[in-house]
Amino acid sequence: DMGGHDTYMHKEISEQPDAVDRVLRGRIDDRFSTVHLGGLNLDAREARSIRRIKILGCGTSYHAGLIGASLIEGMARIPADAEPASEFRYRNPVVDPDTLYIAVSQSGETYDVLAAVQELKRKGARVLGVVNVVGSAIAREADGGVYVHAGPEVCVVSTKCFTNTVVAFALLALHLGRIRDLSVTDGKRIIEGLRKLPGQIEEILKTEDEIKKLAKEYAGAQSMMFIGRVRGYPVALEASLKLKEISYIHAEAYPASELKHGPLALIEPALPTVAIVPDDDLLEKNRAALEEIKARSGRILAVAHQPQEKADHTIVVPKNEDELDPILMGIPLQLLAYHTALAMGRDIDKPRNLAKSVTVE
Ligand code: M6R
Repeated sequence: DMGGHDTYMHKEISEQPDAVDRVLRGRIDDRFSTVHLGGLNLDAREARSIRRIKILGCGTSYHAGLIGASLIEGMARIPADAEPASEFRYRNPVVDPDTLYIAVSQSGETYDVLAAVQELKRKGARVLGVVNVVGSAIAREADGGVYVHAGPEVCVVSTKCFTNTVVAFALLALHLGRIRDLSVTDGKRIIEGLRKLPGQIEEILKTEDEIKKLAKEYAGAQSMMFIGRVRGYPVALEASLKLKEISYIHAEAYPASELKHGPLALIEPALPTVAIVPDDDLLEKNRAALEEIKARSGRILAVAHQPQEKADHTIVVPKNEDELDPILMGIPLQLLAYHTALAMGRDIDKPRNLAKSVTVE
């Protein structure tokens, strides 16, 4: 049942305010400015002894894991990184007892992720799951974890589950932070930011008509570039994947800082750039990248907290806490991919060559 929407993708994009509400529900503890995660199976002493966190997932779940790693590193000050599960399992990784492994999956059935979890467990590692489908193979195999509560996701491309997975990581980061070094004040600040998300997503969804108009301009593009810095880079990766999957337009994602090391050679009027430009400590650096692109007559669409002078168009999104901004900045780009693909007459819920869950090798 598409509930009045033309596609599952559109329905699932629209459901995000409620979905985010669900992942937060019952987990926030205002008294101690922290969160409770019932299924974690990790006591405070164990959590304090973690030296490193390695996050594993594929596709969109890997991108959510990249943001998750930066949230954990920022709030809990535990070195954390993310890697595609499919790569991890084939490089005979060193399995370290002081590392906590986290497997991320919407379906909980992705073979590469499941096989990585099984390999880790064989070697004695502790593995948590950040999973959407309750009781799925990865959820069962993991020692504990956080359910994402995005609700059923039918469209082959993931939207609401990406958003909810990042929010679930913010909760985990806050939990780990508060039993380590994160202050009460910072805990409160993040909790207030989390509570604002559903309303702010609602506001972004109201800009759909504006995004739809923009999408018509990009519908003919041969290729597009997506750039961002630090937390904005995984947002660029995810937006570029979304566009590729449903419009079949070729897209690349780069850290904005890497442009001058090569990809700047591609910039010309026919290659539009989508830039993630949050109002944070990297704003000036990001603006410098826009200038470099403009100097080569590149077209720019910015996603930012205020109109960007060098951009041809800015999609303005509401500001949250710096850490949580990537959650909001991804959403207009889901709509951009959607309307671009729609304008090109693509079969959005069933993109060619893809399956919802990849349960084979
Ligand atoms: O179910 P999973 O989250 O484990 O799936 C992982 C990827 O196959 C999935 O995210 C894929 O990249 C989607 N088509 C993204 O839109």
